[in-house]
Amino acid sequence: MKKTRLGVNIDHVATVRNARGEKYPDPLALALLAEKSGAHSITIHLREDRRHIRDYDLKNLKKKLKIPLNLEMAPTKSMLKIAIKYKPQFVCIVPEKRMEITTEGGLNLKRDINSLKNIISKLKKQKIRVSLFIEPKISDIKLSRRLGADCVELHVGKFCRMINNNKYSKLTFLKLKKTAFFAKKIGLEVHAGHGLTYKSAQLISKIYCISELNIGHFIVAESLFIGLPNSIKKFKKIIGS
Ligand code: PXP
Repeated sequence: MKKTRLGVNIDHVATVRNARGEKYPDPLALALLAEKSGAHSITIHLREDRRHIRDYDLKNLKKKLKIPLNLEMAPTKSMLKIAIKYKPQFVCIVPEKRMEITTEGGLNLKRDINSLKNIISKLKKQKIRVSLFIEPKISDIKLSRRLGADCVELHVGKFCRMINNNKYSKLTFLKLKKTAFFAKKIGLEVHAGHGLTYKSAQLISKIYCISELNIGHFIVAESLFIGLPNSIKKFKKIIGS
């Protein structure tokens, strides 16, 4: 039977902490609780403006977690230096815009082809698993393979928003499925993330070749009602992991 891994993104625990400049809630404590509750990896996005996760969070998480740490980062020289310093097990390269509320779309692979190639090869030399956060498009899948990425994470934010607005589109789902299968066929590991809820995660986990989901905002929000362990357990049951 297929098992989908669950990566828990804890950025918004840091958002709440930073809102008041206190030491709580502690992202490390939450990450350890997520680990204990069955998360397969912990995801953090160290943004260039450090609006949520800070460098010391990365340092402490890398030191204390037993499960893999997945660092989301912009494709810049300074972020590459940080990744090489702390050596998370996984890196997911994401686009970043200063004014966005959250990551709005996938990477512009064509525009950044040379810098991405350089960053990917340097990360792989450190034995870090490299994933590229991309729009679900065949052309971007092909380019990701050419660039030497190990995995692609499909940006499913638009699909999830459709589900939230009760506007399920079979065509969008089938397009997503086709793209995911193509990626798997050419040798990439396929993940999905952004905006996932119980409902959208259940639908996406039905795509057999998607092996990992990275979920943050909804899990943190749900934890206010049912607690983090219960939310993780519920997701794991829904996605069959
Ligand atoms: N995957 C990637 C690459 C992301 O950038 C994010 C948001 O930081 C997520 C997954 C998690 O998205 P959400 O918080 O909406 O679940």
